[in-house]
Amino acid sequence: SRTTRRTEDGAVEVGGVSVARIAEEVGTPAFVLDEDDFRHRARAFRDAFAEAFRPLAGADVYYAGKAFLCGAVARWVEEDGLGLDVCTGGELAVALRAGFPGERIALHGNNKSLAEIRRALEAGVGRIVVDSLDEIDLVDAVAAELGLRAAVMLRVTTGVEAHTHEFIATAHEDQKFGLSLTGGTAFEAVRRVLAAEHLDLVGLHSHIGSQIFDTGGFEVAARRVLDLVAQVRDELDHTITQLDLGGGFGVMYNTQHTPSTPEALASGIAGIVEKQCHELELEVPHISFEPGRAIAGPSTQTLYTVGTVKDVRLGGPHHRVYVSVDGGMSDNVRTALYDADYSCLLSGRVSEEQPEVVRVVGKHCESGDIVVKDEYLPADVRRGDLVSVPVTGAYCYSLASNYNHVPRPPVIAVKDGEIRTLIRRETEEDLLGLDVG
Ligand code: LLP
Repeated sequence: SRTTRRTEDGAVEVGGVSVARIAEEVGTPAFVLDEDDFRHRARAFRDAFAEAFRPLAGADVYYAGKAFLCGAVARWVEEDGLGLDVCTGGELAVALRAGFPGERIALHGNNKSLAEIRRALEAGVGRIVVDSLDEIDLVDAVAAELGLRAAVMLRVTTGVEAHTHEFIATAHEDQKFGLSLTGGTAFEAVRRVLAAEHLDLVGLHSHIGSQIFDTGGFEVAARRVLDLVAQVRDELDHTITQLDLGGGFGVMYNTQHTPSTPEALASGIAGIVEKQCHELELEVPHISFEPGRAIAGPSTQTLYTVGTVKDVRLGGPHHRVYVSVDGGMSDNVRTALYDADYSCLLSGRVSEEQPEVVRVVGKHCESGDIVVKDEYLPADVRRGDLVSVPVTGAYCYSLASNYNHVPRPPVIAVKDGEIRTLIRRETEEDLLGLDVG
């Protein structure tokens, strides 16, 4: 993160606070969020897209709360002028309790409950992103019951599936999200929304994947969505004025990843959209994006304390050093789940010892409980050392569990030498309190 640095005594500090102080005051494991870094990235996306699309019809950025959400984050996002994408009643509840204005919230989800739809409409959300034909009727019915009109976007499946530099442009319709462009489902959905008494069609939505590094996938997806916009104009005589192109911008988990800047992404996509609209003789719609990972991910590191260090003989000259830390797959399941490639560093001190490749593992009762598969740490890494795993701000806390009855770590914000608890550490009482049988 922006304010992470090694001090003269070799320890890492972030937001002006040393990891030793964090370990002492907060304990480990802990998610350490660099507030300036998070807010800087949020504003950078907001400004880059606003700037690049200003000559067109403008662009907004919604922060995707699924990456990481709590009251403080909702307030920062609000103050920094972004919208907020929520995909469950729980995320919506966090946003509303933080005072996030309803009109800047987008509600997603492929299986929204009636209660979630009702609550969103009562809160006056700016848009409900409708994900299926039968949800059109649900939202229409709830809007009728509440005596209001619901602003909806339709999520379409473009057949583009993007991941890092590669994307596949066909045959990815076999998934639960969205309304398929092939077979006319998405067109039929537009027709039904336009005919519905209590719905206003605000636009179309497409999300193609996550951890994406270039604009190729967006180019294909935008074209397919704009083809539908043109078809709706030609056949239904209706102008669709807004398009959301989703999130998915990649972050640097290791040195093989080279993320584009928000400016490069924004100007690249603006150029693509402008060209395609020109070809189709369409007015350029207002565009929005929903980055989550690229805002939250780099802001946070997980701070662990080393416990058992085990040198395992693998036959012949081979061996592997297992460095166990006091958390694991309950606070970062991404390595186990997605084969994610994190790095780590000895953060409490420097060592003159040669680096050696180690595997950082957690404390769970499962051999797949790996946090960092292979990374260099000094050969004298030992019990009591502090180890940091960077870029854990997205989809780590939000995917955390209580596997093996391990309480979830706190999330603390650091800024200008101050520590502020955003989410407190779970306690044994919290866990036992759920057990009421
Ligand atoms: N918008 C929609 C409709 C989405 O489904 C997602 C992510 C986003 C925005 C934000 O995408 P981002 O900018 O964060 O890539 N748990 C997985 C990631 C799941 C992403 C789901 N949808 C992981 O840890 O990699």
